[in-house]
Amino acid sequence: MDERNRGRLTKDGIRIYEPADFEGMHKAGRLAAEILDSIAPLVTVGQTTAEIDRVITQMVDDAGAKSATIGYKGYQHGSCISVNHVVCHGIPGPKVLKDGDILNVDVTVIVDGWYGDTSRMYVAGKLSRKAERLIDVTHDALFKGIEAVKPGNTFGDIGFAIQSFVEAQRMSVVRDFCGHGLGRVFHAPPNVLHYGHPGTAAELEEGMFFTIEPMVNLGRPETKVLMDDWTAVTRDKSLSAQFEHSVGVTADGVEIFTLSPAGRFHPTWA
Ligand code: MF3
Ligand code: CO
Ligand code: CO
Repeated sequence: MDERNRGRLTKDGIRIYEPADFEGMHKAGRLAAEILDSIAPLVTVGQTTAEIDRVITQMVDDAGAKSATIGYKGYQHGSCISVNHVVCHGIPGPKVLKDGDILNVDVTVIVDGWYGDTSRMYVAGKLSRKAERLIDVTHDALFKGIEAVKPGNTFGDIGFAIQSFVEAQRMSVVRDFCGHGLGRVFHAPPNVLHYGHPGTAAELEEGMFFTIEPMVNLGRPETKVLMDDWTAVTRDKSLSAQFEHSVGVTADGVEIFTLSPAGRFHPTWA
């Protein structure tokens, strides 16, 4: 049997994994989180995003794991690095970080066939007040979404928790990109929207694995993809932030697979 077909599918096509499968997701998630912990000292004024990506790719290799992004739809890097008004899928390159830049680094690794996908924000130099507020709201929005994860709730409850929190802070939720099911594959049903209405969309069941990865803009929610076919930016050039965890639904709530072992998920945490 193809191991990617293990378990069963719900009527919405969402895979239900076994209790034993949580261990595989924890291993993959832990490696991705450790890598994001270890690159923190590299994020400095004068550093290039290509160098950060090179170190990430080396760490994936040293761990005996595989990068899920290298070769994915032609993508060639071990991470996405999205600076300032880049919303997501920023391509690492010779761009030099300057004082006050904020960046999301997104890493997905494959360990024993299981996918661990996580991203978080970093700062080069001094964090401005408005960027700090954006980062705080985006981080807290992810956790509002995670708090809505339990059997019987719906994906609409997750989206509503995120959207209502963000919009109450007069910021906007990106609609053009969403979270996704994952497990033995990178992207699977459902689309995990970061906006929505309570009680709508599929019901959460124990054994579902997916990401929550809200992108929040200081300005308007609209995005556009640049000529490189990857880099998504805010149309109004406003600052954008994102945090991502991979999670699993348990009998009474949620497990986060990508928690930071060093407690460094947020850039202002020591
Ligand atoms: N890690 C991203 C996500 O959260 C996907 C990146 S795909 C890439 O789903 F090809 F751009 F790397
Ligand atoms: Co993801
Ligand atoms: Co990701």
